[in-house]
Amino acid sequence: MQQTIASKLPDIGVNIFSTMSAMAQQYNAVNLAQGFPDFLPSEELIGLVHAYMLQGFNQYAPLAGAKPLLENLAAKVEKLYGASYDPATDITITCGATEACYTALTSILEEGDEVIIPEPSFDVYLPAIQLSKAKAVFVPLTFPDYSYDWDLIRSKITSRTKIIIINSPHNPTGSIITEEDIVQIQKLVEDFGIYVLSDEVYEHIVFDGKKHLSLSANPVIRENCFVIGSFGKTFHVTGWRLGYCIAPAYMMTEFKKVHQYNTFSPVTPMQLAVADFIKREEQYTSLPDFFQQKRDLFLNHIKDSRFDMIPASGTYFQMLSYKKISEENDIDFAARLTKEFGLASIPVSVFYHDKTDHHLLRFCIAKKEETLLKAADILCKIYA
Ligand SMILES: Cc1ncc(COP(=O)(O)O)c(C=O)c1O
Repeated sequence: MQQTIASKLPDIGVNIFSTMSAMAQQYNAVNLAQGFPDFLPSEELIGLVHAYMLQGFNQYAPLAGAKPLLENLAAKVEKLYGASYDPATDITITCGATEACYTALTSILEEGDEVIIPEPSFDVYLPAIQLSKAKAVFVPLTFPDYSYDWDLIRSKITSRTKIIIINSPHNPTGSIITEEDIVQIQKLVEDFGIYVLSDEVYEHIVFDGKKHLSLSANPVIRENCFVIGSFGKTFHVTGWRLGYCIAPAYMMTEFKKVHQYNTFSPVTPMQLAVADFIKREEQYTSLPDFFQQKRDLFLNHIKDSRFDMIPASGTYFQMLSYKKISEENDIDFAARLTKEFGLASIPVSVFYHDKTDHHLLRFCIAKKEETLLKAADILCKIYA
């Protein structure tokens, strides 16, 4: 007999990314909605997975991850950010950054704790906060440059504040943190002893000669910080579901307890293939140019359209304003763009808890040139 379940997540339904992707399929639209590449990953990387499968690496990986991947990742982080993490105790390989965010938050949050979430914000953090009976404290980034208002953030800190979420490069805005932001984050850690979740899944996708600033590089923040990354984003394999979390051993011990009974470990041959691949530096040092070319191609082709843009500093995403075209709310406009014009995007209001609407849409630029040109052609034809 069916019974009524008291939902632990009553406000959560199908997310906007699935909704827009389904709508894109239904209307045969060009899909720049969800954040995933429409081109193939490296054949060599696929070959490595195949080879490891044939060699018999098809059983459980260790709980924290395959040893070569832990070791090579620790070496990469040390080289790039000067941060020394012990692969034996400070790293866990996860089923995507999604699992890493869930596990990090669940492992430290207690009932009544408060979590500072700068908005707009990716949707992956809130459910873990709610399941832990903690409270999200939303603080807007400044508009339209999406920088941090540190006075405002400090005014929201209470004795229950446990952790702040920093996401740079930032989804959906494409903004990145500055050296001054790092100074301010360090002060928060020193003054209030709070933790930091640093979501750095787009660490290798930063444009215009700018540099990714990893919070792992700061020795004070590092002591209180979960640094989260995604091999899916870096190697164009989001469907492989491979990410990681790095933190000092005292935090990672708790992280591993949750991870152990959630997924135990991600797919073994993929871990081993990525372990080999991350030693090949050019695979990630080439990414800024690779993605900047895509961003620039897209923006150049819509420069005479009625959409306004501020070029993204990083990530897979470019936001466009349709203010000159329509006063519709962004959810309706995104739906109309998909149904009438055949182009799917994500309305940016969904990244705010109160659906703040600045008449912006987010477009994923991690697409083949032909896909981006098709999308640009459509955008150039929209006048009202
Ligand atoms: C900011 C941010 N964090 C985390 C994730 C999740 O990454 P993964 O696909 O590795 O789970 C995404 C994916 O879009 C993201 O944009």
